Amino acid sequence: MKGLILSGGKGTRLYPLTYTSAKQLIPVANKPVLFRVIEAIRDAGIEDIGIVVGDTAPEIKAAAGDGKRWGVRITYLQQDKPLGLAHAVKIAREFLGNERFVMFLGDNVIQGGISPLIRQFAQSEHNSQIVLKRVAEPQHYGVAELENGRIIRLVEKPREPKSDLALVGVYMFDHTIFEAVDAIAPSWRGELEITDAIQWLVTHGRRVYPYVHEGWWIDTGKPIDMLAANSLVLDELEPRVEGHVDTDSRLEGKVIVEKGAEIINSRVRGPAIIGETTRIVNSYVGPFTSIYHHVVVQDSELEHCIVLEHSKIIDIPHRLEDSLIGRHAEITRSPIKPKAYKLTLGDHSRVGIL
Ligand code: DAU
Repeated sequence: MKGLILSGGKGTRLYPLTYTSAKQLIPVANKPVLFRVIEAIRDAGIEDIGIVVGDTAPEIKAAAGDGKRWGVRITYLQQDKPLGLAHAVKIAREFLGNERFVMFLGDNVIQGGISPLIRQFAQSEHNSQIVLKRVAEPQHYGVAELENGRIIRLVEKPREPKSDLALVGVYMFDHTIFEAVDAIAPSWRGELEITDAIQWLVTHGRRVYPYVHEGWWIDTGKPIDMLAANSLVLDELEPRVEGHVDTDSRLEGKVIVEKGAEIINSRVRGPAIIGETTRIVNSYVGPFTSIYHHVVVQDSELEHCIVLEHSKIIDIPHRLEDSLIGRHAEITRSPIKPKAYKLTLGDHSRVGIL
């Protein structure tokens, strides 16, 4: 069995965070979402993984490399334009050959437990297996209608969903999917939809089985989703301290302090993770916060935040909450008069002033 990860596309909904970077590389609990997907596929016993890449190919290749560090072989498959998930399957045809495969969307974070399902599919007679999850707003997803446990219809982002079962970004196929992706036409949004290709399999009597996932699942398309995914993953981690925590500091609950990090005269209340070579000085870091590597937090308080690498948060008078701070960002107090806010913000930034 092979693995296929879709990491093409542009990720516009996460601007400006993804303006220069692939959304699949944004870390959740200090590990890029894409790496979590690679690990889930590896844990199912798969060693051959194809990654579909688009405009952000150089960054993705630089980050994931040849896959050796996970004990897998990665092949990159260039998609010139994000023409749809089924189009991505088309361009992967040569790589996949006649093998059964699991396809993962590179920006989805799913709670463990999917690997055994993939192993089962490898041995099964099914043509396809799809993973579904009950959601509050199914209109944003592909939606499945079931009858007596069998799929009767699949619709991509329906205006009036007939069920609350969303298609999670994990799909399993055999070679029959190639016939389906060749047969369908582009949707109203101009994409070849994998949902339509699976509907084609159902209509043509192929064996497509649903599996309803009970754990959590997050499509990290929007900043608020990143924070939610971050909280869920942090909550499952085991605490460990590999950096330095001085005697005036206190760690409470599940806290990870990575190599070379320093906690000086500060309090960190977990679940939280402090990245490599990051310094937390005279500060408070509250629950559900991930601070990536080479960050400085000094004389400040933050909670329920993601802070990316090489940023500085220094001497902030109010607590920062529910925030996503990009790379090399600086939040400091200005000593220069007149007293004023001085901001350099990227496109689509959002700032809430007290
Ligand atoms: O998240 C689950 C949903 O994912 C499903 O419920 C939908 O049925 C499915 O169509 C998909 O919907 P999205 O509109 O959220 O997909 P998105 O455009 O965000 O793309 C998902 C991933 O696939 C993302 O990592 C980018 C990558 N991609 C996307 C396209 C359109 C590609 O690699 N190539 C593409 O052509």
